[in-house]
Amino acid sequence: MQKPLVRGFFDTVTATWSYVVWADGRQECAVIDTVLDYDIHSGRTKTVSADRVINFVKEKGLKVEWVLETHIHADHLTGSSYVKKQLGGKTAISKHILKVLETWQPIFHNETDTPLAGYQFDHLFADDETFKIGALEARIIHTPGHTPADTTYIIGDAAFVGDAMFLPDVGTGRCDFPGGSAADSYDSSRKLLALPDAYRMYVGHDYPPAGKRLPQCMATVAEQKAANIRVREGISKEAYVEKRIKDDTGKDVPKLLLPSIQVNLRAGDFGAATEGTQYVKLPVNKI
Ligand SMILES: [Fe+2]
Repeated sequence: MQKPLVRGFFDTVTATWSYVVWADGRQECAVIDTVLDYDIHSGRTKTVSADRVINFVKEKGLKVEWVLETHIHADHLTGSSYVKKQLGGKTAISKHILKVLETWQPIFHNETDTPLAGYQFDHLFADDETFKIGALEARIIHTPGHTPADTTYIIGDAAFVGDAMFLPDVGTGRCDFPGGSAADSYDSSRKLLALPDAYRMYVGHDYPPAGKRLPQCMATVAEQKAANIRVREGISKEAYVEKRIKDDTGKDVPKLLLPSIQVNLRAGDFGAATEGTQYVKLPVNKI
């Protein structure tokens, strides 16, 4: 098995890790979970975060084959549409996004510019589907819980887990969004911890405990098994679910929840324009 090279990029505003993954000596790459900077007060976007990824791809002379999303993010806008315009590649996400589209349609009434069949993505992955990034073997596994559509991309010995699990001292992603499930989250952690001990697990965010360490992006499966504060070996499903639900109860929604979900359901595009102006919809008293 060929082990990929991985470069992570940390967006400090949203604590998001984006990745470029490629094989040594080859040009083909995948880009995972990029960020489009969005200021909620002014409605202005910037591309500082995505441009760091784009510049790296250009400097290395890489060729983007895939622009992958681990899930529909609720805390930042995806940069995938912008990255695709700049670098090419196919946008892709799990087919379980169809459930997420269905869940949010009655809230946004967005079916005119957000196809419920998911055509806005170039590809919808089936569970356990395999694919290639140049010479690299890749496959996906369904790891729901944080959202119903969370997906892990396993590329060689590197697993890109999104928010299914975080680093050992942070734990797992919250499970209180629509369609989220603490029980599913536990089951997903078991699927991930069943991977070989030496596999590298790359997380979608990092929230380092204050003053303790700098943001990091990777822990091995063995390290997660031994030390993950929420799902390490020996913690029962019952205990996990009870604590996860308790800790999620009463949490504020992420600041960018409503803009993020609607844009991310369109694979990173803002909605249909009226005389050249695009808008963000903010439903009142709906969530
Ligand atoms: Fe997330």
